[in-house]
Amino acid sequence: MKFFLDTANVDEITELASTGLVDGITTNPSLIAASGRNMIEVIKEITGLVDGPVSAEVTATDYDNMVAEGRLLKQIAKNVAVKVPLTFDGLKACKTLADEGTSVNVTLCFSATQALLAAKAGATFISPFAGRLDDIGGVGMELISDIIEVYSNYDFKTEVLVASVRGPLHVLQAARMGADIATVPAAVIKALYKHPLTDKGLEAFISDWEKTGQSILEK
Ligand code: G3P
Repeated sequence: MKFFLDTANVDEITELASTGLVDGITTNPSLIAASGRNMIEVIKEITGLVDGPVSAEVTATDYDNMVAEGRLLKQIAKNVAVKVPLTFDGLKACKTLADEGTSVNVTLCFSATQALLAAKAGATFISPFAGRLDDIGGVGMELISDIIEVYSNYDFKTEVLVASVRGPLHVLQAARMGADIATVPAAVIKALYKHPLTDKGLEAFISDWEKTGQSILEK
């Protein structure tokens, strides 16, 4: 499974991209606003921090301006993926941009039928928001399962990009279902590797090693 970081914070991206485990970045208008930066400038900077896709979302809601914004965003860098919302105009814009060879991430997906239409529109990625369904008492990961099942019945090339991830359990469930990508906040990435038994075990190893008086590096 690929891991994308869901952030427009360049410090978070720089820190975690250094692990070599970050396969891409997703942003949205709220994350751009939280960065306090000019959108074009921060997307340009982010595209230089990772080799993988960097999702930059249009803010227009009508077809003509979505396409115009998408064409402009695509010019920022070769690894920009244009994000459009799953609306009637968003699907039309996805089809137009995809037919032009633009990588399109269709976002704000909350049903498998929406995801089916996005795949037919040529989406490169579909972003179902698992966490936001959980937030209203739904079962977000059932949506992911439904989309994977629907897509597996056809030769769609659209990758399932699990979004609105609230913690390691979502990541585990997504991986068990065979989702292509999970886009996660920096804190969730860090929660994936932290375990108290690992820390406790390492502490014991180092303590016992120090009693030997040896050093691997010293001659
Ligand atoms: O960026 C898309 C999605 O991951 C946002 O998730 O946490 O705002 O529900 P969230």
